[in-house]
Amino acid sequence: MSTILLCVTGSIAAYKAADLASKLKQAGHDVTAIMTEAAQQLVTPSTFLNLTGNRVYTDLWDPQGQTEHIALTDRAELVIVAPATANTLAKIAHGLADDMVSTTLLAVASPVLVCPAMNTRMWRHPTVQQNLDAVRTLPGYHVLEPSEGNLACGHVGPGRLPETPEILAAVDKLLGERRAAPKAPGTGKHQVPTAPGTGKHPIPTQAPSLFLELVTYDSPPSAEALTEDRVYRTTLLVAGTLVSTGALGSQRRAHVHVAKSMEEALERARRSPLAASGCRIEVFPWRLEAGLPPTTA
Ligand SMILES: Cc1cc2nc3c(=O)[nH]c(=O)nc-3n(C[C@H](O)[C@H](O)[C@H](O)COP(=O)(O)O)c2cc1C
Repeated sequence: MSTILLCVTGSIAAYKAADLASKLKQAGHDVTAIMTEAAQQLVTPSTFLNLTGNRVYTDLWDPQGQTEHIALTDRAELVIVAPATANTLAKIAHGLADDMVSTTLLAVASPVLVCPAMNTRMWRHPTVQQNLDAVRTLPGYHVLEPSEGNLACGHVGPGRLPETPEILAAVDKLLGERRAAPKAPGTGKHQVPTAPGTGKHPIPTQAPSLFLELVTYDSPPSAEALTEDRVYRTTLLVAGTLVSTGALGSQRRAHVHVAKSMEEALERARRSPLAASGCRIEVFPWRLEAGLPPTTA
């Protein structure tokens, strides 16, 4: 049904992520797990390999030199961080990218469901709460509050990873919102432009750190081309200036524009002569720190 990235971090609740992976797979989703080093101390990559049937990513430095963190996010329709440690929350809040999980999370353009789990005192710590507030305000990020109860450390209070059914319900809700997003005009073939990770329309256009890159293709790439093509070009534009490009593979990008709001991007899409001919139109959201040079995706 959907392509889901499951980021597992080093909480004692990491074993519950195995059940989540299993249930997602049973529901028909294509699940790929990414694990932090700490997560691997608590549960093995082999568990997720066997439950999902997909390679498990643990290392940013792929031996074949591929930028898997980008390729994975290109394919992902939803990213789940479960359980999310205080450490990983801090990384997300501050844009740190020093391992496969955190670097992948900086590159996502799909909704991200963050499910924190930690000791009650950690949860209540002001810095954790500040980081949570920051994560909650990130476009496309959704925080599933931990439940209260007995924790592995013997404490009682908030900090438990919600049970699998609750996480699955949140997943279904986010995927449902994404599917319900209106189709672009022209044909049903168009990829629906969505806010960075929210799957909602419209995105908050006043977001200072948001740029949108509208890409139209000369011809609709075939499904085979899209799945076989493991080499993606990332083209990053800021205010019309080409900042970086990479290898593209078989896709041809014909026209690239930069819009400063979703409305502008949609308007361009509607006016594009290619829209009526069934060509693929995508709007890529890029989150950039205002005034700072962009990170090459
Ligand atoms: C047995 C054990 C259980 C842990 N459980 C949690 C937890 O539930 N939540 C949390 O935030 N940190 C927990 N930690 C601490 C994290 O593993 C540690 O902060 C680590 O650096 C997190 O790295 P990561 O975010 O890259 O996975 C635990 C540590 C140990 C040794």
